[in-house]
Amino acid sequence: MTKAANLFRSIFGAEADGVWAAPGRVNLIGEHTDYNDGLVLPFALAQRTEVAIRLRTDGVIRMSSALAPNNVVGIPVKELAPGWPAGWGAYVAGVPWALEGDVGFDAAIDSSVPVGAGLSSSAALICAVGLGINDLLSLGYSRRELARRTRRTENEYVGAPTGGMDQIAALLCIEGHALLYDVREDTTEQVPFDPSDAGLKVLVVDTQVRHGHVDGEYAKRRADCEQAAEQLGVPTLRDVAYSDLDAALNHLDNERLVKRVRHVVTENQRVRDTAAALASDDWVGVGELLTAAHASIRDDFEASCTELDVAVAMLMESGALGARMTGGGFGGAAIALVPHAEADEAAHTVRAVFADNGFVPPTIFSVVPSAGATRIK
Ligand code: GLA
Repeated sequence: MTKAANLFRSIFGAEADGVWAAPGRVNLIGEHTDYNDGLVLPFALAQRTEVAIRLRTDGVIRMSSALAPNNVVGIPVKELAPGWPAGWGAYVAGVPWALEGDVGFDAAIDSSVPVGAGLSSSAALICAVGLGINDLLSLGYSRRELARRTRRTENEYVGAPTGGMDQIAALLCIEGHALLYDVREDTTEQVPFDPSDAGLKVLVVDTQVRHGHVDGEYAKRRADCEQAAEQLGVPTLRDVAYSDLDAALNHLDNERLVKRVRHVVTENQRVRDTAAALASDDWVGVGELLTAAHASIRDDFEASCTELDVAVAMLMESGALGARMTGGGFGGAAIALVPHAEADEAAHTVRAVFADNGFVPPTIFSVVPSAGATRIK
């Protein structure tokens, strides 16, 4: 019996029709490229969000989360409107809205994906609910179509201007692989990714610094990219080839845009290079690309923060092959490729240096490339 199913029974006093789970993700590389029609390389985590659902016949949506089980939110489907209810409830209510499946249901949610850590807890929730509604109403959407629609939940219903990576990762990733997703071409390729085979671990350092994507810096970076594309006369920054980068930079009228474009164009190239390095088991090469990606997002895209930079520096000093922030940035988590034998010591060093700096204690754990969303009951 899953925790979500138990919670469902205790809150709603009945058995759920089914339970669905969708994972959080780590983006190995390819940051702030998805909304520029570029390339990303995420993998799914074993940490996931489970949702137990039972359809209702009276057109009301009720939901409860293990984080606050007694706070049951109830909304008539007829009243669904973008932005309502405020808070996490919109990530659930916005799913039937985007799936055009006007139905009432009860939902109980339990999650092991850290919230706000850059590990895509929001997409995990949206995609678990989406898969459940798709099954229960026999809507017949493919996983790709579900990814498109659940992205609309986040962009249009919740109002977070995110790209498409997180939903694609939650729905299409498979165990032991990273997913090379080309947003412009809308193609995916499963890239074998098994660090443990090479005696390595992927360590995640959740700095506990929290970001928000609904407004603020993330939206500003998107606007910078759009402005730069306009100055360059191209639909998106994906249209700037790596070989044309210098010429493109000369066309821009300010240093901020130069930096944003340099990040996006070099990052797309690093994604390609990382996929190639993985194909030839060149783990040292992968590590160098991760570290180069961090320097780029820190210095050119300016989406890092002090805690992330300290975590990356300490991980590198502790023997990591490479380290970088992952996800939207401005807080959240850093990842590192660390030899098994060094992992405990590396975690210890990061904790000690965080304490010396007076930072909030980080949460540190290792992750393995795991399966995408699925029905579990
Ligand atoms: C967030 C968004 C993604 C992506 C990343 C940055 O996680 O949800 O779509 O833009 O930031 O790469």
